[in-house]
Amino acid sequence: MKNIFNTLLGESADFCATLRAAHIVAQTDVTVLILGESGTGKELLARALHEQSQRANQAFITINCAALPETLAESELFGHRKGAFTSAMTHQSGRIKAADGGTLFLDEIGELPLTIQAKLLRFLESGELQALGQSTIEKVNTRIIAATNRDLYAAIKAGQFRKDLYYRLNVVPLELPPLRRRGNDILLLLKAFTTKLSANYQLSAPQYSKATLRKLRQYTWTGNVRELHNFCERMLILFSGKVIEPENLPAEFQTEKSWYDNQLAYFILPEEGVNLPILESQMINQALEKTAGNRSKAARLLGLSRDTLLYRLKKHLKKTDD
Ligand SMILES: Nc1ncnc2c1ncn2[C@@H]1O[C@H](COP(=O)(O)OP(=O)(O)OP(=O)(O)O)[C@@H](O)[C@H]1O
Ligand SMILES: [Mg+2]
Repeated sequence: MKNIFNTLLGESADFCATLRAAHIVAQTDVTVLILGESGTGKELLARALHEQSQRANQAFITINCAALPETLAESELFGHRKGAFTSAMTHQSGRIKAADGGTLFLDEIGELPLTIQAKLLRFLESGELQALGQSTIEKVNTRIIAATNRDLYAAIKAGQFRKDLYYRLNVVPLELPPLRRRGNDILLLLKAFTTKLSANYQLSAPQYSKATLRKLRQYTWTGNVRELHNFCERMLILFSGKVIEPENLPAEFQTEKSWYDNQLAYFILPEEGVNLPILESQMINQALEKTAGNRSKAARLLGLSRDTLLYRLKKHLKKTDD
């Protein structure tokens, strides 16, 4: 597959599956919800979607919903008429209107106040908006791309996010996998960032020893691609032209148990042992419940490929049939 999003690097299976879906939706006006941990590239993908759309020459406007105080959120998004509230001295159009013909990126959508969520839903359903203090309704052609690193299911359960808005936004969910689950992409990105940064800084690139690379692949990367990029910059500056051994890595790499070690330490076999087939069947069921039956996501939760999960599911179903 040719990657038309040339800013987004990566070749791992899950990442490419997301890119494939992104290629398809880029050409359309469909509402997109981008999911992923912090630093996985949500904003980069939102921009790339806009740049590959027919709206590319129009505005791309970003709003960080977490930074919007509730009192200002409505006017910021929908605009207001003069006198709509005490401090409204002039008419002001909102960001949805400002992005007319283009794209509005609603970052951290999970933080949008509940009252505004209802109004946003109305806009998504009808393309119509009503500024604060205005009696008439206006039609606007703005595409919405939203992103969140929050578990919106949990937010719905906690009464903090509207279910109807969730379904309306979630027409096409694009999930960016965490870096620790992207296998060789860690090294691919490490190389790409190091090459680019050393050209920018005009410094010769450091070399990573095999043992160091192994450690980097096993590191948890909770800050994902952003953390890796900062790491590359730091290593370039400190070790330009040198070989980096594991002991040269920053403290967090020395103290952190690898993601794999954490997994091993977490499950301690009880003295009386376990019934592994039953345990496996229960884990699979729980993963499917957590992901509302989505087998690819369930497989990811279990650290399996989708094919392996399907194979094991079949095996367990066969056992219950016997
Ligand atoms: N696949 C990728 N290829 C190259 N660079 C990437 C990739 N993904 C992310 N980046 C870079 O990593 C950094 C973080 O990306 P971005 O800001 O898009 O993440 P985010 O998911 O929006 O994070 P947050 O949730 O913290 O806002 C940026 O510098 C971005 O350019
Ligand atoms: Mg972001």
